[in-house]
Amino acid sequence: MERALPVMAALSFVGRARFAFGLALFASLLGTANSAAGTEQAAPASAPEAAATNASPVTPTYVGEKVCTQCHVVINEHFTGTVHAQTFRLNPRNELQARVCEACHGPGSLHIKNPVDHTALIGFTRRWGTAIDVMNGQCLQCHQGGQRIHWSGSIHQSSQLACSDCHNPMTKLSQEGLLRRESIIETCYSCHQQQRAEFRKRSHMPLPEGKMSCGDCHNPHGSITRPLLKADTVNDVCYACHAEKRGPFIWEHAPVRENCLNCHLPHGSNHDMLLSTARPFLCQQCHSNTGHPNDLLTRAGLATGASPDERVMSRSCTMCHAQVHGSNSPAGAQFHR
Ligand code: HEC
Ligand code: HEC
Ligand code: HEC
Ligand code: HEC
Ligand code: HEC
Ligand code: HEC
Ligand code: HEC
Ligand code: HEC
Ligand code: HEC
Ligand code: HEC
Repeated sequence: MERALPVMAALSFVGRARFAFGLALFASLLGTANSAAGTEQAAPASAPEAAATNASPVTPTYVGEKVCTQCHVVINEHFTGTVHAQTFRLNPRNELQARVCEACHGPGSLHIKNPVDHTALIGFTRRWGTAIDVMNGQCLQCHQGGQRIHWSGSIHQSSQLACSDCHNPMTKLSQEGLLRRESIIETCYSCHQQQRAEFRKRSHMPLPEGKMSCGDCHNPHGSITRPLLKADTVNDVCYACHAEKRGPFIWEHAPVRENCLNCHLPHGSNHDMLLSTARPFLCQQCHSNTGHPNDLLTRAGLATGASPDERVMSRSCTMCHAQVHGSNSPAGAQFHR
């Protein structure tokens, strides 16, 4: 249990520079708090000593952002550039939004009495120690539904992630989305190092180049399709950008229809075209050479002893079976055309 400190002692302990502060100001703050709290019972006592009362059963009340910003000056400067500040201050759509700081941090009357009591206010940093469900509950008051419809029960939720593990609403660090890092991919990489390594491989989609992001395929807030995929199947995720692979084709290649990942890796590969295995081995996982006219040149009378085996040259099998994703040519049953 923390020992309750008188407020002024607590503040000099934190440092005066950060909290533009003086005795006179403090008195006036409490005045403001009182009037903002109106008739509510928990109006703070007017003498600093009274603030030494430990976390009381008293229900905290709202004090208004003017009180908060007196102490949290620098933080407020950063916050002012964010979409929440602009909406809540200039165009609040309801009473809760008009509370500004306290819309997220909860009513602050007990906090201003004893700023070092971590149970007196909802904090969103790990060191503050507020329970994760409580933190997330604050955000979900306004952001339930939409993309977050499957948040509850999602792997990120059940792995005890807080909204604030990916978002920092106090400062505008990203162009969009109030993320903790400058971009979506850097935000994800902060925990998913393996995917960073995969996207560095020789073949990868242009994500490190900034043309797409993890969010094009995944919904970090939850999804009904593992692993957090944005569409109902892997193939539907891919068709969103590679529509020409959707078909339908006169001649379908069964593994393509089934799952693009039968041959491709989504994040990166050291084989070209994001293939999971090099050709011809890729094809030979499912096709044997038995029954294949494996020496067409011989049949055409063109073979010489020195002819290399066409099947392992360059694009190998796809040299002849060029329409491996499916063919619309009446004569394309073997995906030659
Ligand atoms: C009397 C000055 C004062 C006022 C007024 C004040 N705070 Fe604080 N606040 C502090 C101090 C000091 C700390 C640091 C306590 C600590 O680190 O143990 C703090 C900590 C916090 C934290 C925790 C930050 C973290 O580490 O996670 C939040 C959030 C916060 N204040 C929000 C508010 C809000 C919202 C208001 C208005 C309702 C407010 N404060 C009013 C002095 C003040
Ligand atoms: C939209 C919700 C939201 C609003 C509105 C909001 N905060 Fe915060 N606040 C957060 C979150 C989330 C964090 C944690 C940020 C982080 O992880 O660094 C935070 C962190 C803080 C901290 C600790 C920062 C640090 O780096 O130690 C303080 C102090 C604070 N807020 C005060 C305020 C004050 C004062 C206001 C109003 C001017 C305010 N907050 C408005 C959500 C909010
Ligand atoms: C009182 C309601 C309210 C609360 C609480 C709240 N938000 Fe918001 N949030 C809004 C509004 C309003 C917007 C403005 C955009 C809009 O109209 O949806 C917004 C926008 C956002 C955006 C989009 C930013 C952008 O650039 O488009 C993110 C991300 C966000 N909030 C995250 C959070 C997180 C994380 C929390 C909890 C720490 C939180 N919000 C708490 C109301 C709220
Ligand atoms: C694993 C990381 C992660 C977590 C956890 C997370 N988000 Fe997000 N959130 C994102 C990303 C990435 C975006 C997209 C930002 C963009 O489009 O630029 C986003 C966008 C948003 C937006 C703006 C777009 C929209 O859907 O309206 C809101 C609001 C939002 N998140 C709220 C929340 C809330 C509330 C929580 C907690 C319940 C949360 N987020 C948890 C990563 C996360
Ligand atoms: C704070 C850490 C953290 C951040 C940031 C984070 N994740 Fe995660 N993510 C996890 C944890 C923990 C798991 C649980 C599985 C594990 O241990 O890998 C997970 C799992 C996943 C999974 C696998 C789901 C499954 O069903 O196997 C995907 C996909 C994923 N995250 C995508 C993202 C994306 C996209 C982002 C960025 C928007 C992101 N994550 C940001 C921690 C994080
Ligand atoms: C082109 C779409 C796409 C993009 C972009 C993408 N992913 Fe994935 N991701 C997938 C698919 C599809 C799977 C399923 C893989 C499987 O089932 O084998 C997956 C799987 C995962 C998993 C589960 C573990 C694994 O590797 O199979 C994590 C974690 C993950 N992705 C994180 C990320 C992160 C972080 C980013 C951004 C840096 C990202 N993904 C970008 C499509 C994508
Ligand atoms: C958000 C759009 C988007 C989604 C979704 C997407 N891709 Fe891509 N993909 C691209 C872009 C852009 C390129 C690069 C095209 C270029 O360079 O002409 C690409 C290239 C590729 C390549 C060729 C790689 C190379 O080395 O040239 C393959 C294979 C591929 N994607 C497979 C997939 C698969 C499989 C999925 C589903 C898991 C998928 N894509 C989902 C945008 C997307
Ligand atoms: C049977 C294996 C296999 C499956 C399954 C497969 N592909 Fe491919 N894919 C290939 C091969 C082989 C190449 C290289 C073709 C070449 O070199 O001409 C390729 C190349 C690509 C390319 C880049 C060249 C191009 O044709 O645009 C994209 C994009 C692509 N595949 C997307 C997909 C998508 C989307 C799916 C799922 C609908 C899918 N692939 C399923 C084998 C496969
Ligand atoms: C995951 C298993 C799998 C992989 C990998 C695979 N195929 Fe197939 N392929 C099939 C199946 C199943 C059929 C349908 C066979 C049938 O209908 O009898 C088929 C049909 C074909 C056919 C048409 C022949 C016929 O019997 O109708 C050709 C040609 C073919 N594949 C070439 C390739 C090539 C080239 C590759 C490598 C790029 C490849 N396949 C990779 C499973 C696979
Ligand atoms: C030089 C061109 C060429 C190359 C290289 C080639 N094929 Fe073929 N493949 C053909 C032709 C032509 C046919 C059709 C023969 C027929 O209809 O009698 C065929 C037929 C097939 C069939 C269908 C066989 C059947 O029983 O109906 C499969 C499966 C097949 N090839 C897979 C492969 C695989 C796997 C590779 C790579 C290891 C490969 N092919 C490389 C030309 C080629």
